[in-house]
Amino acid sequence: MKLTPERKENLENMYQTLLNDERVKKMKDIPMHFGSNCYEHSFKVARLAIKRALRHKEVNIEALLIAAIFHDYYLYDWRVEKDKKRSHASKHPYIAAEQAERDFKISKESKKIINSHMWPINFKDFPNSKEARILTLADKAIATVEFMSSTKSKKKHREETLKEISTLF
Ligand SMILES: [Fe+2]
Ligand SMILES: [Fe+2]
Repeated sequence: MKLTPERKENLENMYQTLLNDERVKKMKDIPMHFGSNCYEHSFKVARLAIKRALRHKEVNIEALLIAAIFHDYYLYDWRVEKDKKRSHASKHPYIAAEQAERDFKISKESKKIINSHMWPINFKDFPNSKEARILTLADKAIATVEFMSSTKSKKKHREETLKEISTLF
């Protein structure tokens, strides 16, 4: 699908507002996949999801963008909080969606997209919309790259990563 210049600008503004929001920046304190953090991960996922969504027809890009940015907005370190360790993989989508609704009043549609992003771990929560399937696949693709690259190479490429996530388009 082709975005009108106005819609593109609006999406970029949404992205920039959230990229610079102090509450969203709290995700920087949450470590992720050896040397990455939740903030960088989430914006990488958001960029990939939107890029892929533009290859499709009729995608709710706005709902997808919000869902992608908040899909891991759980704001705790499961490595430190022992009680969360076992249930983290299955429960964090619901915690993230609830907290994003509490702090940013995200839509029901974005919440639904977030809820199914851990499928098939949460087998009952199948991603039953195009947007949800795009998010769950983009998340897995980014997580795999993060998982495979070493902490050393992530540190080396940190500046590139920050530059890359500094704009949506
Ligand atoms: Fe997640
Ligand atoms: Fe994720």
